[in-house]
Amino acid sequence: MAQTVVFANRKGGSGKTTLAFNVASLLADSGNRCLLVDMDSQAHATVHAGLEPFKITFGVYEALVNFLESQQAVPDSIISLNTNFSILPANEKLSALELELKDIKNREIVLKDFLVELESEFDYIIIDTPPSLGLVTINALVASQYLVIPVKTDFLSLVGLSQMMNDYYRVNALLNPELKFLGIAPMIFDARTRISKEVLNQLESTFGPNRLFTPIRSDVKVMEASGHALPVHKYCPKCRATQDLKIFVEELARRINNNG
Ligand SMILES: Nc1ncnc2c1ncn2[C@@H]1O[C@H](COP(=O)(O)OP(=O)(O)OP(=O)(O)O)[C@@H](O)[C@H]1O
Ligand SMILES: [Mg+2]
Repeated sequence: MAQTVVFANRKGGSGKTTLAFNVASLLADSGNRCLLVDMDSQAHATVHAGLEPFKITFGVYEALVNFLESQQAVPDSIISLNTNFSILPANEKLSALELELKDIKNREIVLKDFLVELESEFDYIIIDTPPSLGLVTINALVASQYLVIPVKTDFLSLVGLSQMMNDYYRVNALLNPELKFLGIAPMIFDARTRISKEVLNQLESTFGPNRLFTPIRSDVKVMEASGHALPVHKYCPKCRATQDLKIFVEELARRINNNG
């Protein structure tokens, strides 16, 4: 049965897509069957995977709409990227999903029901979400067992964080009691700046070391890698972001094995 992990934060540009794509790719390269689900109509995870969203004619939007009509999860929407690594890609039509879901019964559990049929085919399902808490993100939170909140280590990111935690508590209480908050992933960390260090200290005193992942350091190779449609560890095996991402993945797997 797959372990389903969602990367979410209402704040834009916090590193959700970067982390989701690289983590899925690293897990796949260490022998785990991984499915990356792109739930953002910006389709950045899809682009990161080297696909062109406007060419995706049967992506996650079409798959979910089809599922609503037929109750069958169509595996055709899944694209294999390499051994062990597949993606359920997005195109910009996904922005219409909020409206499609609005009037249906059990609108929060559509993605969860859809993924049930795929659970036995993967070890990990990694979900990337948009920077908002609409029905699409709620579906992703309801479909998952584990939540990671990527936070850019700057001041404004701290401001929005309590809102994101409230979203988690609400979903956990009302819709998905199984959802475990695994921790904060400090992103784009620059140890040379005082603000990065201050934000990290603040996160540690608020959440404690057990709910804080290793920081992913700021590294221009991360941006270059996405431009080449590669995970950072393949684009630059020795650079500091690769080192941090590998530690992150080990911590993630350990926390999941310990069930949180
Ligand atoms: N460790 C890093 N070092 C340098 N740049 C980074 C790092 N991590 C992410 N970035 C860059 O920061 C930007 C925002 O990252 P990303 O797109 O992953 O955030 P996001 O939370 O998914 O954004 P959105 O909310 O728009 O979906 C991107 O340009 C990405 O390449
Ligand atoms: Mg994103």
